[in-house]
Amino acid sequence: MGRKKITIVGAGNVGATAAHWAAEKELGDIVLVDIVEGMPQGKALDLMESRPVEGFDVNITGANDYGETSDSDLVIITSGLPRKPGMSRDDLLQKNKEIVSSVTKSVVAQSPNCIIIVVSNPLDTMSYVAKAVSGFPKNRVVGMAGILDSARFRLFIAMELNVSVEDIQALVLGGHGDSMVPLPRYSTVGGIPLTQILTEDKINNIVGRTRKAGGEIVALLKTGSAYYSPSASAVQMADAILKDKKRILPCCAYLEGEYGLDGIYFGVPVKLGSDGVEQVMEVSLTEEESALVQQSGKAVKESIASLKL
Ligand code: LAC
Repeated sequence: MGRKKITIVGAGNVGATAAHWAAEKELGDIVLVDIVEGMPQGKALDLMESRPVEGFDVNITGANDYGETSDSDLVIITSGLPRKPGMSRDDLLQKNKEIVSSVTKSVVAQSPNCIIIVVSNPLDTMSYVAKAVSGFPKNRVVGMAGILDSARFRLFIAMELNVSVEDIQALVLGGHGDSMVPLPRYSTVGGIPLTQILTEDKINNIVGRTRKAGGEIVALLKTGSAYYSPSASAVQMADAILKDKKRILPCCAYLEGEYGLDGIYFGVPVKLGSDGVEQVMEVSLTEEESALVQQSGKAVKESIASLKL
């Protein structure tokens, strides 16, 4: 068997950095696609020229159309406009809907059996668009957000306690927006529940910062949004899928009744393996947690309802 083939659509900061992480992990050969002439080719060649230094044996090519992407095992869609300061993820909705629809059509025409990871914002809604346009079964279209939101939650816990990020597990449910639901009760430090280690006040501060973490970066960068951590998160999903690891990770998955939500994409823990989303895991929630999840579900539902597909 040859190497796996990964297409990354959008060679901007998120796409190019995803190519970098994926190449270093030798996940497979990579095709970087972007509409800007020369840019994906230039970034691909530059990454290729780092190979002898870093010692990874995968090919990276750049393209302006989809011919090169044929028969990809996995496609990561990062295309779309990024947020500017003061913009919500939903402000991007209509413009990015058109971009993600057209990209998905081109992807599917070349790689009818691939698994699609969506990174474009607003994430839950763009994942819905990619599923609708591709006609793929729900397991083969999955969105990246929960790993990123949980990573931020984990980092802020590690910083507060001055401990290794490696020992921290944390769960964030819900839409990738300000209504996301970090769950301290399902977060642990070396196996010890967070709620036993930090005061309620400290936890509330960390939860608040996690919810606004994307906007915190946008406000600092001024010309775009985060990309190191979003791309690392997408590549962790690619790794789980391409190696059939069956990892349990928070991802944006299509729900059909789980958590009382139906017909929307939403952040939940899933099992990720070679079939994509192999299972949605349901966790029990207190009344208060459940109310927050429903509120987040409502926000995602409204965003999807505003689409004219
Ligand atoms: C973030 C944007 C990319 O959370 O959604 O940083």
